Amino acid sequence: MAEASQPIVSVIPDDEGKEKFKKSDHVAFYRRQMEGPNFQHRALLDTMVLTEKGARFKLLEPDTQTTLLLSVSPCKNDTVRILIDELQPIKARYRVPDVITEEPHVEQLRVERQSKDSVTLSWSSGRHQVCVWHFPFRLEILCEDKAMVTFNAKGKLWLEALQDPPGATSRGSELQEDHTSVLWKETFRQFVDIQANGPSSIGADLCLHGFSHVYGLPEHADGLQLRDTRDGEPYRLYNLDVFAYDLYSRLGLYGSVPLLVAHKPDRTLGVFWLNASETFVNVHYSPSDHQDGQTPPVKRRRVEPQTDVHWLSESGVIDCVVLLGPSPQQLFTQYAQLTGYQALPPLFALGYHQCRWNYDDEADVKAVDAGFDRHGIPYDVIWLDIEHTDGKRYFTWDSALFPEPAGLQRHLEKKKRKLVVISDPHIKVDPDWLLYCEARDGRHFVKNRQGQIYQGSCWPGESSYLDFSSSDTRAWYSRCFGLDKYKGSTPSLFVWNDMNEPSVFDGPEQTMPKDAVHYGGWEHRELHNLYGFYQHMATVEGLITRSGGLERPFVLSRSFFAGSQRLGAIWTGDNVASWEYLRISIPMLLSLSVAGIVFCGADVGGFVQDPEPELLVRWYQAGALQPFFRGHSAKETKRREPWLFGEEVTAAIRTVIQQRYCLLPYWYTVFHQAHTSGLPPLRPLWVEFPREQSTLTVDNQYMIGGALLACPVTEAGVEEVKVLMPGSGEVWYDVHSAKAYNGGRTLSLPVTLDTVPVFQRGGSVVCRSAGSGSCTAELQQLPLSITVALNSQLTGSCTWTTAIPSATVTTRPSACAGSPCCQAVCSAVLPVKEEEEEERLTALPLYSQSPSWE
Ligand code: NOJ
Repeated sequence: MAEASQPIVSVIPDDEGKEKFKKSDHVAFYRRQMEGPNFQHRALLDTMVLTEKGARFKLLEPDTQTTLLLSVSPCKNDTVRILIDELQPIKARYRVPDVITEEPHVEQLRVERQSKDSVTLSWSSGRHQVCVWHFPFRLEILCEDKAMVTFNAKGKLWLEALQDPPGATSRGSELQEDHTSVLWKETFRQFVDIQANGPSSIGADLCLHGFSHVYGLPEHADGLQLRDTRDGEPYRLYNLDVFAYDLYSRLGLYGSVPLLVAHKPDRTLGVFWLNASETFVNVHYSPSDHQDGQTPPVKRRRVEPQTDVHWLSESGVIDCVVLLGPSPQQLFTQYAQLTGYQALPPLFALGYHQCRWNYDDEADVKAVDAGFDRHGIPYDVIWLDIEHTDGKRYFTWDSALFPEPAGLQRHLEKKKRKLVVISDPHIKVDPDWLLYCEARDGRHFVKNRQGQIYQGSCWPGESSYLDFSSSDTRAWYSRCFGLDKYKGSTPSLFVWNDMNEPSVFDGPEQTMPKDAVHYGGWEHRELHNLYGFYQHMATVEGLITRSGGLERPFVLSRSFFAGSQRLGAIWTGDNVASWEYLRISIPMLLSLSVAGIVFCGADVGGFVQDPEPELLVRWYQAGALQPFFRGHSAKETKRREPWLFGEEVTAAIRTVIQQRYCLLPYWYTVFHQAHTSGLPPLRPLWVEFPREQSTLTVDNQYMIGGALLACPVTEAGVEEVKVLMPGSGEVWYDVHSAKAYNGGRTLSLPVTLDTVPVFQRGGSVVCRSAGSGSCTAELQQLPLSITVALNSQLTGSCTWTTAIPSATVTTRPSACAGSPCCQAVCSAVLPVKEEEEEERLTALPLYSQSPSWE
C-alpha cells in the first residue's frame, strides 16, 4: 500500500477554503453555555452532611428542576476540592482516573457560623474557611476572614443532565432525525459527530480576588502570562497535531494541563480543573482602577483587582481543586502531591540528543556519531525517526537500511551512548503482521461507534489505534518492549512516542472522532486529552519491566496531560526555524514548567525549514539552558549537524554543549529537587522573587533552579541585550567574567555571537564538572568544582544535596583557580566547614541502577 505523507497544513485553509481547526464558535457546547441563561442555583443548606470526606450539599436549579450534589473537601495540604455531579444521573458520568496519585487527606470540618443565607465551615487551626451561600449559590474560600476565591461568583455554573435520546424507544436505538437531535449531533466540515449521550457539558467560573496575573494552561504558542480573552478566542485545551503552529494563538496544541496559577506578591494560588474532554477557558482581568466605560472615563472608587476564570468542558463532572499556596514553592508541592512528582531522569537524558527525520541507515548513524568525537562535541543519544521501520510498522526495522540494529546499539554502547527509536500509537492494518494480529485478537484497538475496529490514516496508511485507556492494552503494549519480543532492541534503546494526540490524517481536526469508543464503552470525547498520557505510561512501564524493575526509563512523548511529569519528557512539537519560534520557546517552556511538566524542550534549530547559522548558534545557546536539549529537523530540511557551517559555528556550538555538560551536576540536582519537592528546574522570575512586581511579566528570562539567571539572546544581529537583574540588595555574578552586578535594575549588556548571558545569584553555590567529557558516562569520572557566590553579607549557602558519583570534591579556593568567577568569590570567604560540606554532599549516584519509584 502506498504510504501516506503528512499534509503540510496547519491553520492554512484547505482546498475548499475552510479551516482545519475549529474556533470556539464552531463548538456547540461552547455556544450553548456562552449564549445560554445564567442558571439560578440554590444551595440547600439544610441538606448539609458532614462526613470524613468533607461536606455535602444539594444544589437545586428551580427552572429546570435539576438537583446536583456538591462535595467540598478541604485537605491537609491546603487544597480544597470542589466536586459537582448530578444527584441521580441516568448513568455514570466520566471521572478522570489515573491522574490524581493519591487521595489527599481530608480535614475534619466544623460549623463556624450558620444562618438561613450561608454556612461557614472551618478546619484545624481555623485560619481557612469555606462559606457556602444559599442564593445565589456561591462558595467562598477565605483566609483569615478574607475571600481569596469565589466559586460561581458570576453564576456560570452549568451542568447538562444526561437524558435519554429523543424518540428512542430503548437505549442505544438510532436517534430520531427531528429538530431535537441537533443537540445529539454536530457537524464540522464533512465530519459528523454523533453524541451518544446527548448534551452533557459542564462549566463554572471562579473569581480570584486581588490577582491580576495568571499563568499556566499549556500548551499554547503564546506568552507566559495568560491574556484577557475578551479580545478574541478563549484558551482551548484539546490535544491536536498542529504542524508549524501559529504563534500567539490560543488554539490547543499537542498536550493539555488544566492548571491555572495566579500570583500576587503575598500569595500564589492554583485552580486545577480535572477534566479530559475538550475544554475552553476564558480569562477576564479587572484592574483595581475601575472605570465605568463613559467618555471621558469617570473614576470609581479604587477596588481590589480580580481575575475571573470561566472553565467550560464538553462532558464529565465538575472536579476542581483550589491550591492555596501561599508561596510558589508550596503551590508546586501541593500540585505534585496531587498529580505526582517529576520522574528523576537518568543522567544521560539530561545530556545532548541528536535527532533528525531521518538518519538514513546504520552507516549514517555511525558517521554522525563519529562526527561528534571528531569535533570534540559531547553528546549522549542519537535518534531514529519513522523511516527506520519496515513500512512504519513500529517495533520492526527496515532490513536493508538497518540490517544489524543490535550491533549498531552495541557500537554506540561501547562509547556509553544510547539510541532512541520512535514508536507511534497507530498500528498499520496488516493481517500478515503478527503484532497487528495480536492487537486485533486481543481487542486492543479503539472501536468506532458501530462497534467495529476504528480505522484512520497515518504514516503507514490505513491504521488502527491502540486503546491505551485499557490497562490490559497497556500491559500488552508494555510487553512489546521486552528484549525477547522487540527483535533488534538492546537495553540501550529508549523510546519516543509521537503522533499521540492522537494524530489521524483524515480525522476531524486531524484527530480521532469523538464518537469512537474506548474500553468500558466510554466515548473518545470523554478522555481525548488523556490518550497520549496513557501511551506514555504504557511505554514507561514497558522499559521498567524490560530492566527487571531496575533502571529508570527515558521516554519522550509529544502529547501529555496533568501527571505526565511522572513519566518523562515532552517537547513542543513542530516548530519552525525562525527567530520568533526561538523566542516563543522560552514562555512555552515556562508555562509547561509552571504546570508541572518540567522535563521539556523545543526542537533546537527549529523543526521546519533551514535556520541561518546565527539562528542555529543562538538556538543551541538557548537549548543548552533548557531542560530537554535535542537538535531535530524535518525530512525536507538540509542536514545541520553542528560541524556543517564552518569553524566559527562549530566552535560556538561546541562551547555551549560543553558548558551544558559541565553544568550537569547542577541540572541533575535541580531535577532531584523537582522529583522530591515539585519545584520546577526552569522558573519564571516571580517564583524566586515573588514580591517584585517587575518580574511578573518577564518571559524572556528565567531562573534555572534558585541560583542561575538565564537570558538567552533571541534577536538577530544584536550587539546588546537588556537584562533585568531582579532583587534589590541581590548581587549577580556573570558566570563567565565573574563581574558583579547589583540587583533591582535593568542593564544593557554588550553581546557578541559567543555571549550567553547567565548570572549566578550571590549567596548561592553551584556545582559543576571540571570538564565535559564525550558523554555523561565520561563526565562522571571527572572532578567537580564548586562555585560559591557571596552575597552582600559575604556568605554563600549550600542548602541542596548535590549529586556526586565517586569523583573528588574540592572546596579549596586553589581548586577553583580555572574560573575567574571562583577566584573572585572563593578567595574572599568560604563560609562552609569542610566536615559539614562532606556530610551534605551525600552520594546520590548520577545514573542510578535503581528506579526512583518503588
Ligand atoms: C511529527 C513530529 O512532531 C516530528 O518530530 C517527527 O519528526 C515527525 N512526526 C515524523 O515522525
